[in-house]
Amino acid sequence: MVQGQYETYEHDVLIIGGGGAGLRAAIEAKAQGVSVGLICKSLLGKAHTVMAEGGIAAALGNVNPEDNWQVHFRDTMRGGKLLNNWRMAQLHAQEAPERVLELERWGAVFDRTKDGLILQRDFGGHRYARLAHVGDRTGLEMLRTLQQHAVAQGIEVYMECTVTRLLKDGDRVVGAFGYRRSTGQFIVVMAKAVILATGGIGKLWKFTSNSWECTGNGTMLAVDAGADLIDMESYQFHPTGMVWPPSVRGTLVTEGVRGDGGTLRNSSGERFMFRYIPEFFKAETADNEAEADRWYTDKKHNRRTPDLLPRDEVARAINSEVKAGRGSPHGGVFLDIASRRPADYIMRRLPSMYHQFKELAGVDITKEPMEVGPTAHYMNGGIRVDADSTATAVPGLFAAGEVAGGLHGGNRLGGNALSDLLVFGRRAGQYAALYAKSLSNSPTADTSQLDACARETLMPFEGKGAENPHAFHAELQETMQPLVGIIRTETELQEALVQLGQYRQRLPQVRVEGGRTYNPGWHAALDLNAMLTVAECVTRAALERKESRGGHTRDDYPAADPRFASVNVVVRKRYGAIVTALEPTIEMPEDLRQLIEEKG
Ligand code: FUM
Repeated sequence: MVQGQYETYEHDVLIIGGGGAGLRAAIEAKAQGVSVGLICKSLLGKAHTVMAEGGIAAALGNVNPEDNWQVHFRDTMRGGKLLNNWRMAQLHAQEAPERVLELERWGAVFDRTKDGLILQRDFGGHRYARLAHVGDRTGLEMLRTLQQHAVAQGIEVYMECTVTRLLKDGDRVVGAFGYRRSTGQFIVVMAKAVILATGGIGKLWKFTSNSWECTGNGTMLAVDAGADLIDMESYQFHPTGMVWPPSVRGTLVTEGVRGDGGTLRNSSGERFMFRYIPEFFKAETADNEAEADRWYTDKKHNRRTPDLLPRDEVARAINSEVKAGRGSPHGGVFLDIASRRPADYIMRRLPSMYHQFKELAGVDITKEPMEVGPTAHYMNGGIRVDADSTATAVPGLFAAGEVAGGLHGGNRLGGNALSDLLVFGRRAGQYAALYAKSLSNSPTADTSQLDACARETLMPFEGKGAENPHAFHAELQETMQPLVGIIRTETELQEALVQLGQYRQRLPQVRVEGGRTYNPGWHAALDLNAMLTVAECVTRAALERKESRGGHTRDDYPAADPRFASVNVVVRKRYGAIVTALEPTIEMPEDLRQLIEEKG
C-alpha cells in the first residue's frame, strides 16, 4: 500500500456528483431501501446546477393549456435535429411535469400565475411557455430543495472529494477511488452500483458559463471504464454570455431575457435574427417585427419571434454578425430589454441579470443594452445509456444528467437540462438500487488496484519537469477555443489533435510543489488527465461528422448531409486508444414520428 491508510466505506449505491441529477438519484435510491453514498467535488449545495437560471421545461400547461407531453416531445426532437434517443425524449416529456410538482411538494417556491399555478416562461424552441421558474435563480432553488430533501432521507455525503478512478472487479464497476481535497487523504467507496452524475466539460474552453468543477471527470471515468459516448461533437455554445469585461467573459446571460421580451440587435440597431431563420423553422417563426412582437402578447395565434430560435441557430447568427463587422465594441452583439420592458418588470423577472451586469460590468440593464456573445455551455452528448434504466454498457455503472448523452441529440433546448436532471436522476436512482438489490455479494477490489490508483494520484508530485498545471490548462483552452469551437474545419480539428497529442506527451512534466493538504495545484494537475481525454473525444467525434447539424458546424461541410441524418457518432476507448464509429440512431415508432411531422 502506498503511504498511509485508505479511508474505506461501503454502500449499495454510490452516486458521484452532488448536482441536481446526483441528489435526485440519491433520493430515489434511498426510497428503494438501500444504503446510499454521495461523493462530490465541491461542498454540498454548491454544484454547478446552482448556476442554472431560466427554468425547468415541463408541459404543465399552466400558461398555455394546449401544451402537453406530445408537443414537448416534438419540440425536443426537432431541436435535437432528430439525433435524439427518442425513448429518452418521450420519457422526459411525459415525466417532467410530475417531477416539477414533486419538487414543489418538497418545498420549492416557484413564481406563480395570477391563479396561483406554477408560472411558466418562454424559451427558445419550445412551442409554448413551458419553463417553471424562480425569477432567474431556478437552479439555486432546485438544488436547495433537493439537498434538503436528500439529507433528510439519511444519505451519506462525502464532500470535497475528487474521484480519480472507478474500481472494477472483472467487467463490473464496484466502487470509486478518490481523495479528500482538503487533506489529500485517499478515500475508497465500494458499491454494488455506481451512478455518474458529474455534469459537464465546459472548462475545456476559454469562454464558458461553466464553473470550476466542469472538467469532464465523469466522462473520463466512464470512457476509461469501457463505456460508450455519443454525440460528443455536438457541444452547445449558448448564444448569450457576457463579453465584457474580460474577467467575466462567458458568464451566462439567461435566455429568459429573450423569453421575457428582450431582442438581439447588431451595431446598426437591426434585429438581425430575421435574416437567419432556417427553412426547418420557417413555418413557425415570424418573419417581421410586428408579428414577432405580437407573439409576446398573443402567443396562441402568431408565429414565434426568431430571437427564440433554438440555441445553435442563434449562436451561429451572432457569430456571423460579429464576423461581418456588425458586432458590438467588445466582439458581441446587443441584447436589449431596456427599451421593451419597464424597469420594475425587469427587476422582478430578472433580478440576477440586473445585479450581474450592474456589479460586474457597470451596466444598468433597465436603461442600457447588454453586450453578449456565444459561450461554451453544455455537453449535448455524453455517456450512452439505456433510456429506461440509465444503465451504461458497463455492468454496475449508471449515468444521469449532463454527463449522460442521448436525450438532447444534436442540440439541447433551454430548460430541458433541469428537467433531464430530475427525470433521469430519479430513474438512475431507481434502477441502480434495483441492480444493487439483485446482487448478493459485497463488492471487492484487490489491493493492487487501489495501490495503482494511489500511485497515479500522487504522480504530479513526482513530475519530471516544471510544467505549471494552471498554465497547462490555459494552453489547452487556447487550443480548444479556436480549433474546436463554434465553427470547425478539418484542418483545424486535425491541428487540434496534433496539439492534444503534444499535451499528452507533456503531461508527465507537470509538477506540483508542497504537500497534499489544501493544494490547488495538485487538484488542477489531476483534472488535466480528464480534460485531455475528453478534449480528444470531442475532437475525434467532430472530425467524424462531416456535415453541419445542430451544435456541430463545419465550415468545410456547411450543409446537413442526409447520410448523417440518422447516425450517432459513438466514441469509446479500445486498447488504450480513443476510437470513433458511426452507428444508426434507434428506430422511432410510427406514432411518434407522426407527432414530429405535425405542423405547428
Ligand atoms: O439561459 C438559461 O437560463 C440557461 C438555461 C439552460 O441552459 O437550460
